[in-house]
Amino acid sequence: MISLKNPTQIARMRDAGKILREVEDEVRLAIRPGVSTAELDELAEKLIRRNHAIPSSLHYEGYPCSICASINDEVVHGIPNPKRILQEGDIISVDCTLLLDGWQADSAFTAGVGQISGEAEKLIRVTEECFWKGVRECVVGNRLGDVGYAIDRHARMNGFSTIREFTGHGIGREMHEDPAVYNFGDPGRGLRLRRGMTLAVEPMIAMGDWHLTIDDDGWCARTKDHSWCAHYEHTIAITEEGYPEILTLPGFTWEAEK
Ligand code: MF3
Ligand code: CO
Ligand code: CO
Repeated sequence: MISLKNPTQIARMRDAGKILREVEDEVRLAIRPGVSTAELDELAEKLIRRNHAIPSSLHYEGYPCSICASINDEVVHGIPNPKRILQEGDIISVDCTLLLDGWQADSAFTAGVGQISGEAEKLIRVTEECFWKGVRECVVGNRLGDVGYAIDRHARMNGFSTIREFTGHGIGREMHEDPAVYNFGDPGRGLRLRRGMTLAVEPMIAMGDWHLTIDDDGWCARTKDHSWCAHYEHTIAITEEGYPEILTLPGFTWEAEK
């Protein structure tokens, strides 16, 4: 069931998104060689709680931490660990969800650790571009297939592949609501987008093949061929005007369009 949000509810999700942006920007600044993923997790949890929010991932279906920290060939759901030390040249995807006054915000980014290869730089850039290609399609009257198609097309055009086993999702009072937001699809097909929809759009893009395996911890997903992967996610709302507002990117306007 898809729950549409009214402008008052979207305003509350905007508040959650603003805090999440501050948290993730702080975590990004802490990324450097020698830091453990557990330290990033502790930092995120501290900042979330300081802002009177709750880390949604902590204890979610038994997940033990406040962020997911996925390095190199890890795609999503990497569990932070004090023994997992960032090395120069790594790329790390940080995914965080928080709950503020009953409303969720969900966002992820991938960053390089120190100097990274040109190909890794390209992967991160293209993954962010895939997000923007997709979110530009999130206008009233378009369909979810338009969104997925735009994302996947851009990945392919750059020689990369789109992860198919995880998707974006509706979001609101729950972290995961209907509909599933596929990162591939057929233009003109799928659910029609409406005012009041709030979605997490989150392309996950691999340098090589998109097939995944899950680690023995039951969480961490990595590419079978060990090709590196990037992730970029924002929570968006389709507003009364019929256009997407990026709730986890406060101040963004389409006038200064990417
Ligand atoms: N933030 C993730 C998403 O984008 C979900 C987190 S899974 C958890 O949907 F187990 F870490 F909570
Ligand atoms: Co997320
Ligand atoms: Co999400």
